[in-house]
Amino acid sequence: MNSYRIATIPGDGIGVDVTAEAVKVLDRVLPGIEWTEFDWSCENYLRTGAMMPADGPEQLARFDAILLGAVGFPGVPDHISLWGLLIPLRRAFGQYVNLRPVRLLPGTTSALRDRTAADLDLLIVRENSEGEYSEIGGRHNPGRPDEFVLQESVFTRVGCERIIRYAFDRATERAGKVCSATKSNGLIHSMPYWDEVFERIAAQYPAVETRQMHVDALAAEIVLHPDRLDVIVGSNLFGDILSDLAAAVTGGLGLAPSGNINPGRDAPSMFEAVHGSAPDIAGQGIANPVAQILAGAMLLEHLGAHEAAAAVDRAVTDVLGSGGPRTPDLGGTATTTEVGTEIADRASALLHA
Ligand code: NAI
Ligand code: MG
Repeated sequence: MNSYRIATIPGDGIGVDVTAEAVKVLDRVLPGIEWTEFDWSCENYLRTGAMMPADGPEQLARFDAILLGAVGFPGVPDHISLWGLLIPLRRAFGQYVNLRPVRLLPGTTSALRDRTAADLDLLIVRENSEGEYSEIGGRHNPGRPDEFVLQESVFTRVGCERIIRYAFDRATERAGKVCSATKSNGLIHSMPYWDEVFERIAAQYPAVETRQMHVDALAAEIVLHPDRLDVIVGSNLFGDILSDLAAAVTGGLGLAPSGNINPGRDAPSMFEAVHGSAPDIAGQGIANPVAQILAGAMLLEHLGAHEAAAAVDRAVTDVLGSGGPRTPDLGGTATTTEVGTEIADRASALLHA
């Protein structure tokens, strides 16, 4: 059996608790993983003045994959935690795809109560390296009445083409539909360009059904007719907003996993829950570990450990679908550890059945 070297960055708040549960589950389905933990976090920032050391990316480069909890905590401004760790790692490792599966899991209650698992199975492909999240811009005339701020967006040909192509490739393995999030009526330079690239790539995939929707209308579509959607591709900002919305209309943020993927595999990919460090419930032992455990399953799938990944996925749906222990966000009374242990036991039983 292959032995993988995986780095963990538990980070802040509930990131620490949910990462411990994901590690527990992965150890049960794929014994022999060599874990290395990095204590990079807001606490580390307050102690050292940096979220991670300057050579952080070099330290991580030798790992097969990275499992990230969440970074950000009151006391450290969010732009420092985000730009000090998450965004530099995504860019250093060419993780230009942010892959966010959204499924209505059995046994969980959606905001769309009468929908079933068959109606809501989306894959959100978010551009993860450029777009609206750019460092270009500045604050001018600070403190004066004529003060103004500029924040530029960056849409490159390479960046748009590769993310849209990635979405089409995923669609060919699924229901064969891609919907592009645009806003060419408001953003009159970047979005018409995005649309142009989308149409050019779409022409190369005649078997895939395509749609282009303004992001506001698409947000409504996710709530009203999720069954009409399959793969959604969007820019960095649009993909970010749509995936929180999509997570919220399923069972909530505690269930939504995410992967920062380098499709060329010349650097490690990084897996994390969609949610943040949840300071409001940190330290209480009640965070839902399912999102991070499913992020662990995506990690295993990416590494080629298909059987182990499927066992984790199935264990999650079995535990939720059979009325097993659940955390308070899903209306239960179980702790983070109880849910993690139940899923680990179930996954291990499935593999060794
Ligand atoms: P959040 O996702 O941490 O929390 C939003 C709400 O969802 C809270 O009420 C929280 O209790 C609940 N929640 C989230 N995950 C949960 C779980 N696993 N189980 C049960 N309830 C859960 O978003 P928020 O509050 O906007 O951000 C908190 C901090 O996290 C900020 O510093 C933010 O910058 C950071 N953050 C970091 C991310 C990352 O590292 N990738 C992503 C999003 C936010
Ligand atoms: Mg987000």
